[in-house]
Amino acid sequence: MSDTSQQDLIYAVYPDLAGKRVVVTGGGSGIGAELVAAFAGQGARVWFLDIAEEAGRALAASLAESVDGPRHAPRFIKCDLTDLAALKAAFEDIEGEAGGVDILLNNAANDDRHDIEEVTPAYWENRMNVNLRHQFFCSQAVIPGMKKQGDGVILNFGSISWHLPHTELSLYMTAKAAIEGMTRGMARDLGKYGIRASTVVPGAVRTPRQQALWHTPEEEARILAGQCLPARVEMQDVAALSLFLASSNGRRCSGREYFVDAGWYGA
Ligand SMILES: NC(=O)c1ccc[n+]([C@@H]2O[C@H](COP(=O)([O-])OP(=O)(O)OC[C@H]3O[C@@H](n4cnc5c(N)ncnc54)[C@H](O)[C@@H]3O)[C@@H](O)[C@H]2O)c1
Repeated sequence: MSDTSQQDLIYAVYPDLAGKRVVVTGGGSGIGAELVAAFAGQGARVWFLDIAEEAGRALAASLAESVDGPRHAPRFIKCDLTDLAALKAAFEDIEGEAGGVDILLNNAANDDRHDIEEVTPAYWENRMNVNLRHQFFCSQAVIPGMKKQGDGVILNFGSISWHLPHTELSLYMTAKAAIEGMTRGMARDLGKYGIRASTVVPGAVRTPRQQALWHTPEEEARILAGQCLPARVEMQDVAALSLFLASSNGRRCSGREYFVDAGWYGA
């Protein structure tokens, strides 16, 4: 029988991830924080960018101080990714310190709800900037180095939301749908340089933000009824897929969408 328990996952070890230079955007909390911990746990050198300074510093400190802590303490850089000058400066900082990036995890996003009739042009811009634009420009920042070394992995984080009939999320869904197209384009252009690009598509993942803002017993029942597997997707499940795709075990995976959603086709 398959495992539908909520027990902690023990990650597979991918020896080629040790020493890899990894950047995680939005790594201060939620799935991003789990990605930081999971890649650092493989012995990778991790830099993570987030607008949330307190959470970012607290995560960096807790990982550096943990008893069986990672080989390389992850480094937090405060950055508002909607500010393209700040984004560029952050990647120049990483480039100066690391000499390049091997793996980019474009994870930062914001899924605030909105009513279509209240959307202004400024709000439209803001939603595209926080959910879509930075994925392109963070990728653009690391591509020259990846090309030079003939190797690199870009994982763009999409969302199940637009594959299902969600409400009050039309701009987020627009951005997340675009990410899949953008990723296919990138993969096609970059494959010849040894660079892989894929979209990771999480389902309804139990994160602190989701639990705090939108969790109700009715919502929990709706999600479980809609999924093929009667168990919630945890942040570790998303990190486990990301580790595989970023490692050499995923060397023939590019240009596609990889879902980790417990088979959520229901409404
Ligand atoms: N949680 C889910 O159920 C779910 C479902 C589908 C897709 N996803 C996707 O997975 C990824 C992670 O989701 P999550 O639930 O962990 O999100 P989250 O909101 O819990 O965390 C996102 C992180 O991004 C950071 N961030 C937001 N705006 C930023 C900015 N302008 N500059 C820098 N950092 C910024 C936040 O501070 C936060 O630390 C996102 O791409 C999201 O769209 C999540």
